[in-house]
Amino acid sequence: MKFGVDYYPEHWPKERWAYDAKLMIETGIEVVRLAEFAWAKLEPEFGKFDFEWLDEAIEILSKEGIKVILGTPTPTPPVWIIEEHPDILPMDVNGTRLGFGGRHHDCQSNENYLNHIRRFVRIMAKHYSNNSHVVGWQIDNEFGNSHQKLCTCDSCKHAFHVWLEKKYTTIDKLNEAWGTVFWSQTYNRFDQIPAPLPTPNAHNPALLLDWKRFASDLIVEFQKIQIDIVREECPNHFITHNFMGFFDKTDYFDLAKDLDFVSHDQYPMHFREGSDLTPSPMRSAAALDLIRGMKQKPFWIMEQQSGPSGWEVIGATPRPGQLKLWTYQSIAHGADTVVYFRWRTCLFGTEEYWHGILPHSGEPSRRYDEVKKGIQDISPVMDEFKGHTSEAEAGILFSYDQEWAFQIQPHHPDLNYVKHIQGYYKAFHEANIPVNFLSEEEDFSKYKLLIAPLMFLMTPELEAKLEKYVADGGHLVLTMRTGVKDWNNAVAPKTLPGDISQVVGIKIYDYDCLREIKQDICWTKGESTDVEDISKWCDIITLDGAEALAVYRSEFYQGTPAITSNSYKGGVGYYVGTELGPNMMKQFVGYAVDKVDIRAIMATPVGVEAVRRRKGNTDYVFLLNHNGRTVELNIPSDWNVSLGREFVNGDKLNLPAYETALFTVKY
Ligand code: GAL
Repeated sequence: MKFGVDYYPEHWPKERWAYDAKLMIETGIEVVRLAEFAWAKLEPEFGKFDFEWLDEAIEILSKEGIKVILGTPTPTPPVWIIEEHPDILPMDVNGTRLGFGGRHHDCQSNENYLNHIRRFVRIMAKHYSNNSHVVGWQIDNEFGNSHQKLCTCDSCKHAFHVWLEKKYTTIDKLNEAWGTVFWSQTYNRFDQIPAPLPTPNAHNPALLLDWKRFASDLIVEFQKIQIDIVREECPNHFITHNFMGFFDKTDYFDLAKDLDFVSHDQYPMHFREGSDLTPSPMRSAAALDLIRGMKQKPFWIMEQQSGPSGWEVIGATPRPGQLKLWTYQSIAHGADTVVYFRWRTCLFGTEEYWHGILPHSGEPSRRYDEVKKGIQDISPVMDEFKGHTSEAEAGILFSYDQEWAFQIQPHHPDLNYVKHIQGYYKAFHEANIPVNFLSEEEDFSKYKLLIAPLMFLMTPELEAKLEKYVADGGHLVLTMRTGVKDWNNAVAPKTLPGDISQVVGIKIYDYDCLREIKQDICWTKGESTDVEDISKWCDIITLDGAEALAVYRSEFYQGTPAITSNSYKGGVGYYVGTELGPNMMKQFVGYAVDKVDIRAIMATPVGVEAVRRRKGNTDYVFLLNHNGRTVELNIPSDWNVSLGREFVNGDKLNLPAYETALFTVKY
C-alpha cells in the first residue's frame, strides 16, 4: 500500500460509494482510512450499534481491492454520552466547561468517558477483527488537537495528584524538589496541589513543568488503553496514530513507543494567520524529519494536503504541481505510504472549505489529475527504497522536556525552543546534508556530529552519556543555557555549564539577556571576516582549555568568546553561547561538518531540496524544486534518472516549477 485517502462514506449517498471506489483505484489509491469521527453513526443510542453501513462501505471498497484502516472514533463522543455525563466536557483554566459541538469535547482522565471508550472500542475491534479487508487501526485522531488548553477539571486534578505521588512518593520529597519553601507554598498532602489556574502572579516553574508532563502522560495512557484492547482483539492488524509535526502538548517520543509505526499529518500550506500561510520547504522538511526521528524508521502520512485548506477563512490554492511536490517531499523524507486528506470536499460542517482531491461537485478535475499523475509516476520506484531512510551521519537532539521548560521560562520573550532548533536544522537543510532528530534515549554513537541545543535541564546520566559520546570520538555541539537546571526544573548550584564543562573546556560566570541590546560576533579563526547580529542571549565565556572560534564585538564583554571548540579525549566539544543568525549558523555548521567529513548530497540553488533515501550502496536522490520557476542544475554523469527523465538533457537538469527528479546513485 503506497497511497491512500481519508474517506467519509457517511457524508455521501450510498449510491456514490462504488463510483468513488472505482475512481480511487484508478488514481492508484489502495487504502482508505474510515470512521475516526463516526461514533454517533455507529452507536446512535447507548448499546444500539449500527455497523452495517460501515461493513457495506468496506465491502464496496474491497471489491476494487482497496484495504481499510479504521479510526477509533473516540475524538467525538456522541451527544447522548455527554448528556448522560456532562462531566466529560473539558474545563478551561477559568473553570468554564467547554460545550458540545466541536470535536474532542472530552476530558481524557474522565472515568465515565474511559468506560464508554473501553466498551465501544472493544465492540468495534471485535466486529472487525476477522474482516480481511481491514489491515490496521488509527487510535483516535491527532491527540492534543483541540486540547490546546489543558483540562483542569476535578478528575484531572485528582489524576495529577496520583501522578505526583507516584513520581515523588512522599510530599516532603515533592516540597524539596519543587522548592515550595519559596512564598510559603509548602504542601501537607498531594491533594492540596493546584492545577495551574490563574494566580495573582506566577506559578512555581517546577509545578508547571510537572503539569505539562502529567498532561502528556495522560494522553500516552489514554492511547494505551485503546491500543491494549485493539491488540487483544485484532492481533493481525497494525496500530498507528496521526501526529502533527512540532505539536507541543504530548511527548511524541513517548507516544510513539506503543505504536507499530507513526503517522503524520502534513499540511504545508495553512489558512490562519500565524501558521504556514506561505509554505516553507524547510519547515515542512523539519516536521517530516522529526516524525521519522520518533522511531528512526519510515512512517506514514495519514493526511497529506490535497487542496486549499480552510474553515472560516481559506488559505491560498496550492499552485499546480505543489500537491505532487509535497507528496514527493514526504516520500523523500521517509514516508512509505501517503494517505491524502480528504477524498471529496464536504458539503457541510466545520470543514466545508477544507478541500479534498475531488471538489464539492464530486467531479474529478485538476487536483484529481495531479494527484493521479503524481501517484502513477512514483509508484513503480517506491518499492526499491521502502523501509530505508537517509542514514544521516549528523543528529539534532530534540526534547519535549526542554521545550516545555523554555515555554515556562523563555528568558528572552522571543526565545522559542523549536525555532532555535530549526535554526540549526535550516543550515543542514539548505546545504542538503541529511540530519536526524533524535531523543536523549537514542544511541548517540551512530552520529559523527551531534547538535544538542538548549540542554537547559540536565541529569548526571545525560551528562555522562554526552561525555562518553565525545570521549569516544563524537563531535558535540552544546549551546547557551546548557546545564542550568535539574530535571525537576530547579536551578542547579553549579558553575555553568555544569559537570559537562570539562568536555567543552569553558566556564560561564556571567551572561546577558539581549533585551533591547544589540550584539554581533565575528570569527577569530578561518578565512571569513563576516560580522553578523546575534540575538536573545549571550553567555559570557571564560576559556578553560577551549579555543575561541568567534567573539562578541561590543558591550563590557567585547572580545570574549561566543563560539568555542575544545578537543576532549577522542572527540570535540563545541559551545555556542548565543542564538546565531543564519549566515554565521551556516558557516559554523559548515565548519563542524567538515571536521568530521560529512558530505552534502549536492549543492543546489535556493528552494531546491536534495534529499536521499539510502539502501545498501545505493542512494535514491530526490531533487525537489519548491520554486515557482524552472531551475537549472548540473548532474554528475554517474547519476541515473528514474523519475523526471524528460527534464534531463545530458548532464543538465532543467527542473520546472514544483517538479521533482529522482536519481539512483551508487556510492
Ligand atoms: C486535521 C484533522 C482532520 C481534519 C483536517 C482539516 O488536523 O486530523 O480531521 O480536521 O485537519 O482541518
